[in-house]
Amino acid sequence: MSKVISFATQKGGSGKSTLALVLAAPLAIQYGLKIAILDCDYQQSIVKTRKQLDEPSLAILRESDPAADYPYDVFPMSLKSIFDFIDNPENDYDLIIIDIPGRADGEDVFNALTGCDAVIVPLVSDYLDRASTAEFMGILEALKKAADKAEVDFQYFGLATKRIGGRREEKEMDDYIDELGLSRFQSYLSHRMVYSRASTLHSLLTPAYRNYAGGTKDSSEEIRRVCDELIEKLDLPRRKAEAAVELEETTDTTPTETK
Ligand SMILES: Nc1ncnc2c1ncn2[C@@H]1O[C@H](COP(=O)(O)OP(=O)(O)O)[C@@H](O)[C@H]1O
Ligand SMILES: [Mg+2]
Repeated sequence: MSKVISFATQKGGSGKSTLALVLAAPLAIQYGLKIAILDCDYQQSIVKTRKQLDEPSLAILRESDPAADYPYDVFPMSLKSIFDFIDNPENDYDLIIIDIPGRADGEDVFNALTGCDAVIVPLVSDYLDRASTAEFMGILEALKKAADKAEVDFQYFGLATKRIGGRREEKEMDDYIDELGLSRFQSYLSHRMVYSRASTLHSLLTPAYRNYAGGTKDSSEEIRRVCDELIEKLDLPRRKAEAAVELEETTDTTPTETK
């Protein structure tokens, strides 16, 4: 059975799609997981990233390596269709990530969340975000209660993203999360330009692509920590040995060679 997660909150622009993009490629390439993203957001950020940014790059890669391919699958999908996908035994992924629209008003969003093993709420420390996050938490609490009653596993977590170190808001956000009683990822993503260059073809943990995208060892460390915590919290398999992951990090391979 695939594990299903979504990065969800009703607040648009909080980094849901970016989190999916930043994590999916490393989880597939460095950790060896079989991954699919179901893009159910009308913005189609992930589908567009693949089409507009990655398709031309893959075409170039294939000139020298005909076997080059995407490290994971991306499917544009309506929220209604996700259960057919998840329940189909042919879709034997380790992890299915659903990119859900940034709203919480319809039954379809609620239903989609019920299909998840875990919902991860990106937390951004601004006041407007906090207000709408509190509302969203109510929905997740209701879901959790229903899941407990039906004896199905359901977890939800907060994960800080676009985090700016040392700011007063950050401390207030931490206090606020504690107040909500929200279990959280200790790991987080900072506010960094490199994350806006996340690709569906290359991993930001692959040194050559990371350098090209303007990342640093610090950005790799952050991504690695979030991947590790996700794997642990969801009890996902590790298909590549720790050592192999380390090796990939220190060897200066080109993106072409990682495929
Ligand atoms: N950690 C981050 N650091 C810097 N910019 C980010 C980060 N996460 C997201 N962004 C930027 O914020 C904007 C909204 O992100 P996006 O992932 O599209 O949000 P959502 O899917 O919630 O609407 C994008 O321009 C994206 O590049
Ligand atoms: Mg989005």
